[in-house]
Amino acid sequence: MCGIVGVVGRGEAAPLLLDALRRLEYRGYDSAGIATLVGGGIDRRRAEGKLGNLAGVLERNALPGTTGIGHTRWATHGAPTERNAHPHATTRVAVVHNGIIENHAELRTELESQGALFETETDTETFVRLLDRLLADGLEPVAAFGAALKRVHGAFALAAVFAGHPRLLLGARQGAPLAVGFGEGEMFLGSDALALAPLTRRIAYLEEGDWVVVTEEGARFFDVDGAAVERTVVQTAVSGAVVGKGNYRHFMEKELHEHPAVLGDTLRQYLDPRSQEVRLPRLPFDPARVPRLTLTACGSAFLAAHVGRYWIEGLARIPCDADVASELRYRDPPLPDGGAAILVSQSGETADTMAALKLLKAGGQQVLSIVNVPESTMARASDAALLTVAGPEVGVASTKAFTAQLAVLACLAIGFARARGKMTPQEEARLTQALVAVPGHAAEVLEQDARIRELAAEVAKARDVLFLGRGSLYPIALEGALKLKEISYIHAEGYAAGEMKHGPIALIDSNVPVIALCPSGPLFEKTASNLQEAAARGGRIMAFTDAAGAAALGRFAEHVVVLPDADPFAAPILYTIPVQLLAYHVAVLKGTDVDQPRNLAKSVTVE
Ligand code: G6P
Repeated sequence: MCGIVGVVGRGEAAPLLLDALRRLEYRGYDSAGIATLVGGGIDRRRAEGKLGNLAGVLERNALPGTTGIGHTRWATHGAPTERNAHPHATTRVAVVHNGIIENHAELRTELESQGALFETETDTETFVRLLDRLLADGLEPVAAFGAALKRVHGAFALAAVFAGHPRLLLGARQGAPLAVGFGEGEMFLGSDALALAPLTRRIAYLEEGDWVVVTEEGARFFDVDGAAVERTVVQTAVSGAVVGKGNYRHFMEKELHEHPAVLGDTLRQYLDPRSQEVRLPRLPFDPARVPRLTLTACGSAFLAAHVGRYWIEGLARIPCDADVASELRYRDPPLPDGGAAILVSQSGETADTMAALKLLKAGGQQVLSIVNVPESTMARASDAALLTVAGPEVGVASTKAFTAQLAVLACLAIGFARARGKMTPQEEARLTQALVAVPGHAAEVLEQDARIRELAAEVAKARDVLFLGRGSLYPIALEGALKLKEISYIHAEGYAAGEMKHGPIALIDSNVPVIALCPSGPLFEKTASNLQEAAARGGRIMAFTDAAGAAALGRFAEHVVVLPDADPFAAPILYTIPVQLLAYHVAVLKGTDVDQPRNLAKSVTVE
């Protein structure tokens, strides 16, 4: 999603802004640009595609100036062309913007009727033209910015620089994050602490509705009503070290191979292997009494929440709802008195999940979030946050953060079950042991890499692929299909194995790989029957199972990948790894942009 940076600096702004934009690349984007204040006016450079293109433009045509703004754009309104790339500018003002200005059409009509000439179809340009008109009417930049903000609706973050005001940078936040960085005699704006980390670790986050006046001397904050407010400057823990790929070809590959370490680090936070007990920090609700839990998230994080529902209902017997946040936020579900919610998010910034958080809090629910970024908006806005210890995840398609989310949810399910008296110490010991074994088993799964690559060569030829699973492996079948679609662009569907005969069976022929996640265990026979139904119609069965499952499936499965024998409780975590690896290898064979697949963003900060 779009990334914003800004600087009132001491040295040349453009190289610094370009560097900061590189640290925002992970969010996903399709064009980029920089504007600086030069000799009383505004100058800008923009380019379609990756930052390398913008760097090339800057090399050929340098951009001087010490104050400026930069942007990576993930297109919403208007194609990802140079013309639509930010900063958008007039002779008086340049603006970068993340999010959507929802009343842009109405504003455009009004401004056009007053003579404004628009150059693009973007919603952002309405804000620029609005500011331009207010400046033309004689307002000073700060007053014009404050007045323009009152006219725009939606969820966004903005930054602006003004011709003739060489040491001024304005920013605003309404639904999308923005941070102010305090340097020595220079000041910064950025979408997140990562963008600013090598420049400064002293950060202040804008609160909802805030706007800020930044000069080289510091920052003055105003709330939504225009009243001056103080915002705390914190020392961020985010490291400015650029995360590298090491010896791996892609970030996704590296991150896949981090599964064992990340799972170990995350589990260590929430369970004690010696006493074989789960150790949860203080929760904002009492799991022994909570009448109902609402689990919500987006994308892969939602599928983790979906597994969490199976675990929490199964072990702790707490009724749960699991809903994608974009539905929950408008569904207006009845929420119980004393209820609680669990939000799951890698970035902690996803717009729909944040909107769900607001709805849930307004509905009196205590909100616990599971996030990977400790300083994220979600972590700060929740009643409590449990951290996944996955480290920075750069590949757009979530891998290690997803299994770390599962690890935390598994610990919660055990802890809740104990609190409700639904689990004996022996049972708790068995399940915690199962989790303690997970990092080792994950390493064994990764040893199947070459075998999975062979399978990928078959899957890469397919047009459609079906993933099947039952119980807590059903959401993992959905995750397998999602991952394959996201990065290889092959159409895939995940299905509850028992539902296959109610629809997808019609698709099955000898060209459709049917990928089954079926460890031996209570539901194995059922899934095996469904696979036989698919095989009987020519379907090509590719199964991920354990040694006992392999023996039973051997006769009709075309390919069997044998995973370690593990407790069925831990299966969703372990069976995620081969489906992610499979998607990775298929994408490499197809030659797609594995780490930044087309049209996708890592952190989705618009609806
Ligand atoms: C995007 C990413 C997914 C991620 C989802 C939710 O779609 O590409 O990998 O699962 O957003 O993001 P979050 O940061 O809330 O986990």
